[in-house]
Amino acid sequence: MTDHHAGKTSTDNFEVLLSEEQIQSRITEMAAVISNDYRGKRPLLIGILKGAVIFLSDLIRNLTIPLEIDFIAVSSYGDATASSGVVRILKDLEQSIQGKDVLIVEDIVDTGLTLNYLVDNLSSRQPRTLKVVTLLDKPERRKVEFEPDYCGFHIPDRFVIGYGLDFGEDYRQLSDLRVLNQ
Ligand code: IMP
Ligand code: MG
Repeated sequence: MTDHHAGKTSTDNFEVLLSEEQIQSRITEMAAVISNDYRGKRPLLIGILKGAVIFLSDLIRNLTIPLEIDFIAVSSYGDATASSGVVRILKDLEQSIQGKDVLIVEDIVDTGLTLNYLVDNLSSRQPRTLKVVTLLDKPERRKVEFEPDYCGFHIPDRFVIGYGLDFGEDYRQLSDLRVLNQ
C-alpha cells in the first residue's frame, strides 16, 4: 500500500476549521449532557439525510441511554423559493412519532429554514417532546428565528465541508471539518 499522507491531495486547498479530535471531544461532552437529560427515557433520534449521518453515528455511540433512530430526507427549493421556507420531504419517517421523545439530529443550522419547517411538521404529529441537536451553527446567516436545543460549535459564515457536509456531494467522508481557502 502507498503512503496515503504522501503527495498533494485535492483537499489541500481546504484549511482545517475543526480537527477530528476537537469534534470527537465535543461530541463526548454533548452526549453526556443528552444522556443525562433523557435519563429514564428512550428517545427517537431522527437524522436529517444526508449531512447528519456521520454526526448521528458518532453521537449515538457516546449515548448511555436506550434509543432508536430513524431518518428523514428533505430538499429546499432553489434560492428564490428557499427564502419562503418551502421544504419538500423526499423520504419520510418509517413510523409514527406520536407520544415519543423525539430528538432531531442535524449537521448544521444555516438560514434556519429547514429546521423551522421540520419542527413545525414534526410537532403536528404530536410527539411527547421535540428537541433539536446540531453539530454546527452559523447564527449570522439566519433568515428565520431558530435556536437549537443543543449545539456543538458556533462557526463563522464560511462554507464548510467534511464530517458529513458536502460540496456537490464530495468530501462527506473527511473526519475533520474544513473551509475553502479563498
Ligand atoms: P438551512 O435551512 O439554511 O438552515 O440549511 C441547512 C442545510 O444547508 C444543512 O443541512 C446543509 O445541508 C446545508 N448547508 C448549510 N451550510 C452549509 C455549509 O457550510 N456546508 C455544507 N452544507 C451546508
Ligand atoms: Mg443537511
